[in-house]
Amino acid sequence: DASDIEKGTYPHYMLKEIDEQPIVIRNIIKEYQDENNELKLNNDIRNAMKKADRIYIIAAGTSYHAGLVGKELLEKLASIPTEVHVASEFSYNMPLLSEKPLFIFLSQSGETADSRAVLVKIKELGYPALTITNVPGSTLSREADYTLQLYAGPEIAVASTKAYTAQIAVLAILATDTAAVKGKEIEIDLIKELAIVSSAMEVLTDEKEEIERLAAEYLPTTRNAFFIGRSGDYNVSLEGALKLKEISYIQAEGFAGGELKHGTIALIEEGTPVIAVTTHENVNYSIRGNVQEVVARGANVLIVSMKGLEEDTDAFVLPKVHELLTPLVSIVPLQLLAYYAALHRDCDVDKPRNLAKSVTVE
Ligand code: G6P
Repeated sequence: DASDIEKGTYPHYMLKEIDEQPIVIRNIIKEYQDENNELKLNNDIRNAMKKADRIYIIAAGTSYHAGLVGKELLEKLASIPTEVHVASEFSYNMPLLSEKPLFIFLSQSGETADSRAVLVKIKELGYPALTITNVPGSTLSREADYTLQLYAGPEIAVASTKAYTAQIAVLAILATDTAAVKGKEIEIDLIKELAIVSSAMEVLTDEKEEIERLAAEYLPTTRNAFFIGRSGDYNVSLEGALKLKEISYIQAEGFAGGELKHGTIALIEEGTPVIAVTTHENVNYSIRGNVQEVVARGANVLIVSMKGLEEDTDAFVLPKVHELLTPLVSIVPLQLLAYYAALHRDCDVDKPRNLAKSVTVE
């Protein structure tokens, strides 16, 4: 049938979509660049970003996790205070808003009912809304004032992969462009750095055999697994855990390294898999301390580090990319790890039980 043709030679959409990520990043660079190789964005969006005294990112699931990365980008690059909210929570427990809020709805499908409920509410209050979505004609896109597209191509697998990295790339562009519009000194040559990310992703998607081996070694029959990281790596550990639980049904949680000792470490037993991500120099030492703590309790630790920070113990070393963009590459082996863990358990990778690609009920 038609879906077989679209999948090409791939056994699953998820694997195809993981592999498409380097191309998606290049597409995004192309779409958001003018003929002088400068970032290009709609003027109304530029003005809305300039006016905002605070940004509220509203999202669900994987898009929420991309929003967490976006917050760091918007605050560090554009200096706009940014909050990230789970849509279903925001609806019923709205925080105190700033005077000039701008709402950003992050949604692959543009159809998530929880996010739409917030959009309806904030439009009633008269606040501006920007939707970042993969589907231009979608509900969230039509009902918001502005739209930015992800240009990721259709995402079919229920577990989101290329939309996550596309969302982070577009948020990086938005943050960098806003910094320029505000006349701030720009600390990053974003187009160049995104091109480096795209090449790094290519290297990573070529490492499938190695990651399949790691999945078999670390996650063979386990019932649970923990992901730890600090700072930006913590955000990625949340998404890594979500991928694994969604498709392999292994109970997986992401934790901030420093929080382990405040509870979660009680769960570590002989052989418990812990996946530790370290791509930031300023937290590398402390996360490795956390690794020692769990190793001492018998954990089976898989360390994903980055070139320049690597040690002999590390199972997987990522190519080096710009400090602010490391989530775009560190997530790739975690996506593949989830994929192979699910495959080894004979799970339905593209259509996991109980989940829907887009949830159109609140
Ligand atoms: C569903 C999907 C998730 C997705 C979430 C938000 O729960 O299973 O993969 O992250 O919805 O979807 P959205 O389309 O709003 O990004």
